[in-house]
Amino acid sequence: MLTMGPRGTKDILPDASEQWRFVETKIRSVCDLYGYKEIRTPIFEHTELFLRGIGETTDIVEKEMYSFTDRGKRNITLRPENTAAVVRAYLEHKLYADTPLNKLFYIGPMFRYDRPQAGRYRQFHQFGVEAIGASNAAVDAEIIILAVQFLKALGLTELKLNINSVGCPKCRPVYREKLQAFLHDKLDELCHDCQSRYDRNPMRVLDCKNEKCAELSQGAPEMADCLCDECNTHFNQLKNLLKTANIEFVLNPRLVRGLDYYTKTAFEIQYSPLGAQSAVCGGGRYDGLIEECGGSSTPAIGFAIGLERVLLALEKQSLLPDFEGTLDALVVTLDIESQSVAFKILCDLRKANFKSDMDFAGRSLKSQMKQANKVGAKYAIIIGEDEVKEGSVMLKNMQTGEQEKVETKDLVDKLYAEVRD
Ligand code: HAM
Repeated sequence: MLTMGPRGTKDILPDASEQWRFVETKIRSVCDLYGYKEIRTPIFEHTELFLRGIGETTDIVEKEMYSFTDRGKRNITLRPENTAAVVRAYLEHKLYADTPLNKLFYIGPMFRYDRPQAGRYRQFHQFGVEAIGASNAAVDAEIIILAVQFLKALGLTELKLNINSVGCPKCRPVYREKLQAFLHDKLDELCHDCQSRYDRNPMRVLDCKNEKCAELSQGAPEMADCLCDECNTHFNQLKNLLKTANIEFVLNPRLVRGLDYYTKTAFEIQYSPLGAQSAVCGGGRYDGLIEECGGSSTPAIGFAIGLERVLLALEKQSLLPDFEGTLDALVVTLDIESQSVAFKILCDLRKANFKSDMDFAGRSLKSQMKQANKVGAKYAIIIGEDEVKEGSVMLKNMQTGEQEKVETKDLVDKLYAEVRD
């Protein structure tokens, strides 16, 4: 057991880290473009925040939270998502005092006690975006376009944007009643989970993965037909804005999302080649959450993208760049006596900002040269007894194979001329 990580977790090894950095760089550049600033909140929060924020009848709260009591007897939960925590930070630090619209993003690990499979883990990472403080449908459009632009900028195709409106506390109860009336006769045939959802959260029946439930809910009334004037206008504005921006979307009346805080706009982006875990992005408006968490009534919208799924998608489309080694120079020593001189040279190279390294394991010349090739070093700087005596090094261009003797004092200038060309 000591040599295996917990089920549903993954180590990100050095080669994979390069891929993560590649994706994270794209995230930062797209957020910069759209004016979203990074926020970093703690990995754990008071359990109460998620109970109130996400909703007590959701799968996340009922079955998936990593919760524990700490030594001070506080109820703590590893964050299963970050919207509630960002709202908590927004209120705690009165971010509303600085600007009416806070545009925030985050990248980080989330924790859910899910059934692990490809694309579904117990520790996974999200890139999320939250715009807190505006009710304008243009912000909904901006957020959706940001998500699409990010995924497209990575080169992904076959993306499908689904949108829906889940209404507001004014119109949703009307819809809920209609839906319950429709499902009433079918109650006995619904799966166990949906039978309990019938009273507590009947809209979740619409996106149940059970085939029988999907069949039974065919022909169910649609939220779009029950929207109040305000929600209807908002939804129409959003659709028009997306059309104007040439963003393709599909209206999906079954899209209800698995968290309770959503109002009005709900959306998901699917990448179907991922099969069962095809949702790469999910989000929506949550105009009631800030008040629920103790603030004043404040409209907000956001999304989160699952980064493991994005990386799987990039791999499927062979879009991950080759990360070749980019070392400027590897310092190679011929004998143990040359090592201290070599080390001094290494320090000087690094001071001069050359990416450089040396062998610390006392390996043979052949192994060190192999290493220079493996790490993609542009130059090998070879030092032996003679070089130490003469105050020189042998500079070998690893691409052409040419080598020349260079006085140690001229090495940095020489490399500047060669590498920085
Ligand atoms: P969510 O739909 O629960 O929404 O998660 C968003 C995305 O996180 C999913 O589409 C998926 O890509 C990824 N994800 C979720 N669970 C897992 C898992 N177990 N393993 C791997 N990836 C996973 C939220 O979390 C909301 N906070 C989004 C939001 C932000 N809504 C408004 N603002």
